[in-house]
Amino acid sequence: MAAAPEAKFTEEHVLWVKQHTPKLITFAISRPESYRFSAGQFSRLGFRDGEGFIWRAYSVVSAEYADTLEYFAVLIEDGPMSAKFAEMKAGDTILLDKTATGFLLPERFPDGKDLVMLCTGSGIAPFLSILEQPEIWQRFERLALVHSVSYPQELIFNQRLADLKDHPLIGEYLDKFRFIPVTTRAETEGALSMKRIPELLANGSLAAHLGCTFNQADTRFMICGNPAMVKDTFQTLLDLGFTMHRNRLPGQIMMENGF
Ligand SMILES: Cc1cc2nc3c(=O)[nH]c(=O)nc-3n(C[C@H](O)[C@H](O)[C@H](O)COP(=O)(O)OP(=O)(O)OC[C@H]3O[C@@H](n4cnc5c(N)ncnc54)[C@H](O)[C@@H]3O)c2cc1C
Ligand SMILES: NC(=O)c1ccc[n+]([C@@H]2O[C@H](COP(=O)([O-])OP(=O)(O)OC[C@H]3O[C@@H](n4cnc5c(N)ncnc54)[C@H](OP(=O)(O)O)[C@@H]3O)[C@@H](O)[C@H]2O)c1
Repeated sequence: MAAAPEAKFTEEHVLWVKQHTPKLITFAISRPESYRFSAGQFSRLGFRDGEGFIWRAYSVVSAEYADTLEYFAVLIEDGPMSAKFAEMKAGDTILLDKTATGFLLPERFPDGKDLVMLCTGSGIAPFLSILEQPEIWQRFERLALVHSVSYPQELIFNQRLADLKDHPLIGEYLDKFRFIPVTTRAETEGALSMKRIPELLANGSLAAHLGCTFNQADTRFMICGNPAMVKDTFQTLLDLGFTMHRNRLPGQIMMENGF
């Protein structure tokens, strides 16, 4: 009898789950020694579901060198995977596809001095991983992370980002970094408020806030989030004269739909 095909996934343990708001959770799972990913990529996570399985994509939040795998999930009303996550607790089994995927990789930009990461909602996840890689800080002169959410209570990573200054591998570079929170449905102190990312790009207020000009020679953009935001932001950057980055035809924009 032929041997059963090797499983394409491993069975991992949920290590912890933290609920930040009724719809925002972070959690960590065990990492098999053989699991490899590049910062910016996503995992496929699954659960057994009746006779079959349920699988969804989640960007890895952890650094490439972390011992465990951390994720950030937005719980969607009536979403099948969200229902599993809402019940998930430490010690539960979770399935991890053996292969990580994705091309939202800053090292694909062959040049540029300033990296501007634009995201909405859970689209911040790949950038949290990218920011913990020392190479990115050596590679770029300035890094900016712009995170748009509707309300201030959804800005759950403020402390984590502030704590990067004490990170043993990247703390020394933090004077290169600017975090710009954006709240689109409420005025928030310390955040750009009541405007979405495409408008902040088009009217020049984002560049002014960063104290720089965006230009083709120096600026590289990475976009991740709501598919409508990715589309609108991409179009805005095209209108401003930037182009899509392709390996054979270098440009200034790299993007990924966050769902
Ligand atoms: C490449 C990739 C990476 C992803 N990374 C993440 C991640 O890091 N964190 C995460 O929470 N989700 C992520 N997602 C979305 C995730 O795979 C699931 O779709 C999501 O968790 C909802 O699953 P569900 O079964 O509950 O609902 P689904 O039936 O899958 O989705 C229902 C609807 O909810 C909306 N939706 C789905 N995901 C989101 C979201 N993240 N934020 C706002 N609205 C959403 C969409 O309108 C979708 O049609 C990613 C998706 C892709 C394709
Ligand atoms: N019923 C509602 O009113 C409502 C509201 C929010 C979310 N939701 C649902 O709740 C779930 C989670 O949503 P979420 O808030 O985490 O994610 P989200 O809907 O993607 O919103 C995150 C951020 O993206 C912004 N955004 C949305 N479309 C954009 C575009 N085309 N261009 C630029 N920015 C854009 C939002 O601005 P805005 O705040 O201006 O939209 C917000 O700042 C989703 O299923 C979503 O559909 C429902």
